[in-house]
Amino acid sequence: MTNDPNSTNPSNPAASARGAELASDYTVSLHYDQRMYRQDIAGSIAHARMLSRQGIIGEDEANQIIDGLEKIQIEIESGDFPWKPELEDIHMNVESRLFDLIGDVAGRLHTARSRNDQVSTDTRLYMKQACVDTIGALRTLQGALVTVAQANLTTVVPGYTHLQRAQPVLLAHHLLAYFEMFDRDATRFAAAQASADVLTLGNGAMAGVPYPIDREFVAKELGFSGVTANSMDGVSDRDFALEYLSAAAISAMHLSRLAEEFVIWSSEEFGFLSLPENYTTGSSIMPQKRNPDFAELARGKTGRVYGNLFAMLTTLKGLPLTYNRDLQEDKEGLFDSVDTLLATLDVSAGMVVGANFDADRMSGAAESSYVLATDIADYLVGKGMPFREAHVIVSALSDRLIDGGRYFKDLSFDEYYAASPLFERNVMDIGIDSSIASRDVHGGTAPGRVKAALEDAKRRLKGAGK
Ligand code: ARG
Repeated sequence: MTNDPNSTNPSNPAASARGAELASDYTVSLHYDQRMYRQDIAGSIAHARMLSRQGIIGEDEANQIIDGLEKIQIEIESGDFPWKPELEDIHMNVESRLFDLIGDVAGRLHTARSRNDQVSTDTRLYMKQACVDTIGALRTLQGALVTVAQANLTTVVPGYTHLQRAQPVLLAHHLLAYFEMFDRDATRFAAAQASADVLTLGNGAMAGVPYPIDREFVAKELGFSGVTANSMDGVSDRDFALEYLSAAAISAMHLSRLAEEFVIWSSEEFGFLSLPENYTTGSSIMPQKRNPDFAELARGKTGRVYGNLFAMLTTLKGLPLTYNRDLQEDKEGLFDSVDTLLATLDVSAGMVVGANFDADRMSGAAESSYVLATDIADYLVGKGMPFREAHVIVSALSDRLIDGGRYFKDLSFDEYYAASPLFERNVMDIGIDSSIASRDVHGGTAPGRVKAALEDAKRRLKGAGK
């Protein structure tokens, strides 16, 4: 049966045969929401503490409940917890086990609470930590970029536009471009974290609860900065999830661009770098191959991370206030984006640090190209010619060079002079180094500027605790 090639669900071959059970399987979320067990237990402990402080349940009752919840956490962590999918979710599993362990007093825990505010609180707690973890992984990747930039402060590489060699830059400058992208990503995850950082317990099912609860106390116990202002919004708001998902989509896009550069740069055609061996795989058929599978998967997984954002936006778009069971669909994509992004950040940091850059090959590519054309035009501008006119002259010169299979460095002074009498002998001094040195503006690729940018990047990382 398990090996039935026609089964669409080989892990559960009996599922399609059990009509009645299939209906209940359909609503189960335990297999993915059980990862929030710590948040669920912490939320319940804080809630029980508050109920007893407010005289809503007895102190002894609260203590029994808290003891039971702590035992449950130990059971879960030691693998002894009797999970029951028929109880649907993490909340019902924990509560039902509490009855097993402490008896009827367990029934007091769900006073002044609903699964609607409970699940939202759990998810917010989980996402706050996910944002911290994601920002930490971004910082590690930024640290890797800084390390490699530091080692390549004089390494030259052609900079590209339209994937055509455009102007020479320092490799450190190129790498620090990604530092900036990941820095902005971290800002977005911090904003998502702030959106999640509001307590929803106390909203009850949706209208609030008819007990004298102390929401601020629970918020403080759980480390939330504040409490939601409107109970109906509170139980049905998933903006914090959308914010994580959209920040994740943008970050995955950045990672995908980096991955794409690694794929191209490690190709035989470019040969700018070789990837560390543990980030490539051999081909099952072509023995010579070292495939950049990790970079390709970093690029490929981006599609799924985008998809998770769209799935969530679509799930939410038609929902009337307040809680609707559709909201249970918030978690799978969210967790998948967290997992995928963390793994991709980790792999990317490993590839950046482990990549072996071929400095000769990169500077050779800059030399054997027409990347100095802008510098030659700028030279004429320096002699008083309008840029557009200089552009025409240098464009004609480079056409001639390309036809003859030559480069600017092969031009004689007479040839320059024939193109424009404004050229003087020192035009012969224009080269890759002078081109790079001349971009001496804030944000430019001149060595001093890149060094300063690197120091600034280090300062920012340090300020971020790395
Ligand atoms: N598993 C549910 C979810 O994730 C918990 C909330 C259920 N609430 C309800 N009223 N059925 O949304």
